Amino acid sequence: MRRKLIAGNWKMYKTDAEAIELARGIAREAGNLTDRDVLLCPPFTSLKSVNEAIQRTSVKLGAQTLHWEKEGAFTGMISGPMLKAVGCSYVIIGHSEQRQYFGETNETVNKRVKAALSYGLLPIMCVGELLAEREAGRAEAVVKEQLEGGLKSISQDDMKKIVIAYEPVWAIGTGKTATPEDADNMHKFIRGTVAKLYSSEIAEGTIIQYGGSVKPENVDELMARPNIDGALVGGAALKVESFTRIVRFK
Ligand code: PGA
Repeated sequence: MRRKLIAGNWKMYKTDAEAIELARGIAREAGNLTDRDVLLCPPFTSLKSVNEAIQRTSVKLGAQTLHWEKEGAFTGMISGPMLKAVGCSYVIIGHSEQRQYFGETNETVNKRVKAALSYGLLPIMCVGELLAEREAGRAEAVVKEQLEGGLKSISQDDMKKIVIAYEPVWAIGTGKTATPEDADNMHKFIRGTVAKLYSSEIAEGTIIQYGGSVKPENVDELMARPNIDGALVGGAALKVESFTRIVRFK
């Protein structure tokens, strides 16, 4: 049985004071759920204070990326051990905004996934096609390439720790959601690809989140689909009320 994982990706929003307020509100409203996992991914500047705000609740902490080196002269970067030390258990890797604006490639995704695993962090590896790729009928081919590249030479045991997030780029922050059927079909394709790369047993255990304009209004039907194991939420994760409703999907 796969446990649903609902993650809030706060992106570059919230000062530290705002982050504390949001985290406290979520902890109060959704901090005692035991049948699903709730994860907050604030900016680096608030990891420590959000970690304090969610103490003694079931809410977990994650970061939005990491560098693959342990330490060194890499101005502006943050390493896996630094994230571990402030209480992170997860890290988002390969988000489409990192791919689009900061030069992330399948190769750097692979390096980050390996680094995360080696420092005891659970990677949430993001994949998803652009609108032009979907319209050209290449959505599955692109996602397959991202999976094969991102998971290159990762062992069977390590694969059991990786979460995949399917985020069609055209649905991120646009208000357009993939229909639950389309999303479920892609999730099925992703699971099939993991089965080919690893085994059907590993694929059956892999958590595959959906992301892209997940909202209180559409979360229930998305989560009802057999291959959708949770959500990676951007905009709607920035308010206690909307995120709490999403987390409490029926
Ligand atoms: P959105 O973002 O929910 O605002 O579409 C999702 C994401 O980018 O993770």
